[in-house]
Amino acid sequence: MVKRIGVLTSGGDAPGMNAAIRAVTRSAIARGIEVVGIYDGFKGMYEGKMELLSTKSVSDVMIRGGTIIGTARLPEFKDESVRKVAIENLKKFEVEAVVVIGGDGSYRGAMALTNMGINCIGLPGTIDNDIVSTEYTIGFDTALNTVIQAIDKLRDTSSSHHRCSVVEVMGNRCGDLALYSGLSCGAEIIITPETGYDEVEVLNKLRYFEEVKHKNHAIVVISEKITDVEMLAQKISNATKFSGRATVLGHVQRGGSPTAFDRVLATRMGDKAVELLANNIGGQCVGMINNKIVSIDINEALAMPKASRKHLSELHERLV
Ligand code: F6P
Repeated sequence: MVKRIGVLTSGGDAPGMNAAIRAVTRSAIARGIEVVGIYDGFKGMYEGKMELLSTKSVSDVMIRGGTIIGTARLPEFKDESVRKVAIENLKKFEVEAVVVIGGDGSYRGAMALTNMGINCIGLPGTIDNDIVSTEYTIGFDTALNTVIQAIDKLRDTSSSHHRCSVVEVMGNRCGDLALYSGLSCGAEIIITPETGYDEVEVLNKLRYFEEVKHKNHAIVVISEKITDVEMLAQKISNATKFSGRATVLGHVQRGGSPTAFDRVLATRMGDKAVELLANNIGGQCVGMINNKIVSIDINEALAMPKASRKHLSELHERLV
């Protein structure tokens, strides 16, 4: 059986990553496997920044947002020469297999390492919920709750001033944060990469809300990277009776103590990753489907089509 494994976090940090690191560490130690923390993702693997973790190293980390071992993005990891240096470092530290916690870019790195003889297991750690092989990614629920709290507060001021608040949320080309938060907050309009964006339609809908439905304020939740929200707010002020205001929630969405849902998800997934590596299995990623923790081949996961959210968009339209 494998004697020593590594754990790293890669890409944007997500609340719950620490709970996953804790689960990997303690589940491995319980099985008689040593664990090395690799700092700053694949970058730290390339630079040889690693150290042995103990049960104590991961005490009191469950409640903390961010990642105690740091994270980074390293596009150069696509180069075989970079990966060869990283593998040399793993060998120096006697690390035989690695748990990679991150998004789909991190999964690609995990697969490439597995193909070079280092078994890796991917865990979905990102607030974006954009990994299609799992119903929920670690961090999504916490970020969603952060967004909801912010929108609820915006509603207070927006309704007092008869304004239209345009709220931009993260998601990296996945509309789940916008869709789920919009649904949770009763937003008047939800714009995501999946719904598409038509400025004229947005302005017409807002006019309809004020003239026909007599709404005196409105919330528009929009995914990032779709349009300039300051400009949209200005256009709303010009074309409707609402005074438009834009709020970009930004990186505040990535911070904070993880929700119970994310802690449990991360804990279950971390344990599953160790079980797979202990059984000499690599090149797989862990997901949650129908509340069951499952694993599938990373290549298969990366090729899966995104599940449709049309039913949720339609539900929103019916209730608004
Ligand atoms: O993938 C997580 C994420 O927060 C995305 O939602 C966002 O587009 C991106 O990372 C922001 O990246 P950075 O922290 O590098 O600005």
